Amino acid sequence: MKNYKVNRFWSMVATLLIVYGLAKWGVPAISRHITALPFPLSVPGTLMFIYMTLTVVALFMLVTFSDEHMAEFMYPVKKLLRGEYSSVLRNLVLVAVPLIVGWQVYEVIVPKVQLPTSLRIQHPSSNFPKKFEDLKNPLESPSDADIDAFIEQAKANEVTFIPQVMADIEIWAEVAEAEHTLEFFPVEPMKKFLADLGSGNVNRETARDALLEKHLFEGRALYAMNCRPCHGDSVAGDGPMADGFKLRPINFTDNGTIETIVEGYTFWRVMNGGPGLPTEATPWDSAMPEWKLNLTEEERWKIILAEYNLAEKTPRIPESH
Ligand code: HEC
Repeated sequence: MKNYKVNRFWSMVATLLIVYGLAKWGVPAISRHITALPFPLSVPGTLMFIYMTLTVVALFMLVTFSDEHMAEFMYPVKKLLRGEYSSVLRNLVLVAVPLIVGWQVYEVIVPKVQLPTSLRIQHPSSNFPKKFEDLKNPLESPSDADIDAFIEQAKANEVTFIPQVMADIEIWAEVAEAEHTLEFFPVEPMKKFLADLGSGNVNRETARDALLEKHLFEGRALYAMNCRPCHGDSVAGDGPMADGFKLRPINFTDNGTIETIVEGYTFWRVMNGGPGLPTEATPWDSAMPEWKLNLTEEERWKIILAEYNLAEKTPRIPESH
């Protein structure tokens, strides 16, 4: 068999391309298998830079290891410059290289119209879709049909909860020998509703308050599962993961945060997270996840209901009102 050997120059180009490909696409592809998330985790730019620099340094050491290696490496380069491949190719390369280098230098040097980097706009709205502005949290004022459905469920003691808490409530009801699952909520509005149910005389107002308590509970549970690591138990942006981010998770109890924005905006921010922010929200890109990937619309509204409630804030009223 003929001993086919790739020239050192081309094997280095191939190595660089393979390392780049692995870091750029290989790692994210593997991350999807490991994390089972519906999106890949990309390798940050600085890490890419470190990988590539290390690869170049290693290849440089390999090439300069001996005169033979160096000569082999330089062979195709010299051959090109002598025009032995083709003079057209040589001329193309000789024109393209200075042009590319010049363009890169120009890109770095040319003054750009940029926002001062020290200013970060916390509530950027340049890409905020107007149609979200008038959105109201549907759980805050449920329709009569929804309330009636809740009353019917409660009468039959068949109130359903989000699957994340359903099993726990059922276990509680069994252990506590509760007559009704809604006894799980030791709050006034629920007690009143249960008393009304017992007397057979339920009014919608009481039922609405009870339904709100149920939604708040579900929202708080979802908040604890998804948002607490960053935004904290006390919704003050002091969760266990909060210190890990340069751009700190927002403190919802602060007057400058969720109280100054309309509910539709909060919904949009939770939906699109950091990746959905326009450039004026940089630098120190937000680590806030893109929740539309993991939470349903109803779950997001429940969390927002709980978020405002826990922070003891009310959203801003849209200007059009
Ligand atoms: C990985 C950490 C992390 C998690 C988890 C997280 N957030 Fe955030 N969140 C942030 C950071 C950092 C910011 C501040 C930067 C920004 O505005 O995007 C933020 C900002 C926000 C804002 C913007 C507030 C404002 O006044 O502009 C809202 C609303 C919000 N988060 C809600 C949530 C909700 C709801 C959840 C759970 C479903 C959640 N966050 C989970 C990190 C997180």
